[in-house]
Amino acid sequence: MMYSLFPTPVFHENHKHLCERFNSSQNDFKIVSDTLLDKGFELIKRMGLKTNYNNLKIKDIWLETFKEYSNQEYHVHYNSLVSGFLFLEVGKDTSFPIFCDPRSNTLLYKDINELENKDEVSAMSERVNIKPQQGDLIIFPSYLPHMFTVQKNNNILRFIHFNLHDKL
Ligand SMILES: [Fe+2]
Repeated sequence: MMYSLFPTPVFHENHKHLCERFNSSQNDFKIVSDTLLDKGFELIKRMGLKTNYNNLKIKDIWLETFKEYSNQEYHVHYNSLVSGFLFLEVGKDTSFPIFCDPRSNTLLYKDINELENKDEVSAMSERVNIKPQQGDLIIFPSYLPHMFTVQKNNNILRFIHFNLHDKL
């Protein structure tokens, strides 16, 4: 038997129709917010946390537009359950998110033990890149550190970033 202890689930699904609705003149935010809550709730249940769907709210939501030299430093989101991105527009070779190992005790361990294959995602990967496509919805536990690479061109990357919480 082999256990997978302390896993960090990350939700990743394409919802191109949501982007089209958000970007269109209909400006139908209700279906977008309902989807963020539905999918966020799925992830929270998968994490094994107790919550009531009716208490779950969008705590913060904001729009990010990246151009040349835009980036985001390593950070986590405090006082929320899960956080996420909905990618509205992804230009060619634009910035992308990197998720970082949240287990601080692995740092010293990794200093003295080498990975067999640095290009392969494994239990001991320090950072994992996700190259988004338009419509990608990614939701993750808010404790998971993340960042965005420095963008090297002036193409547009536009995404919604949000936090969900049940104690507002
Ligand atoms: Fe963030």
